[in-house]
Amino acid sequence: PDPTRIEAENATISAGVVESNHAGFSGTGFVNYDNAVGSSVEFTVNATAAGPASLKLGYANGTTVNRPMDVSVNGTTVASAVAFEGTGAWTTWTTATIPVTLVAGANKVRFTATTANGGPNVDYLQLD
Ligand code: GCU
Repeated sequence: PDPTRIEAENATISAGVVESNHAGFSGTGFVNYDNAVGSSVEFTVNATAAGPASLKLGYANGTTVNRPMDVSVNGTTVASAVAFEGTGAWTTWTTATIPVTLVAGANKVRFTATTANGGPNVDYLQLD
């Protein structure tokens, strides 16, 4: 895997559980967000330099309903209700590309569910 990959199971989980019952994930599992507004996962992304970066979030959504999430970087919302549409099955994993601006060093990148369905199942985040 990409050396910048941060597995969701190693991130800071707020209202979600680590599971491994849907094959195809990387690492040892994925996060199943609680089905609630505000459930979130926060990743610490280390950037070698300040500036624009492209992040890639690995996820699956086995429903036919969008599971939007807000994206924040270091406490500031940088994208609202980014769509994570159904992927066809909980075992069908895909990636979403999220443009952000990072500071040099550690960045707290958080994905927060905005609907009562919670987020999709989230596998990892990495620099694109
Ligand atoms: C199912 C599925 C979970 C998923 C959940 C949901 O229970 O097995 O992996 O997170 O649906 O709808 O959020």
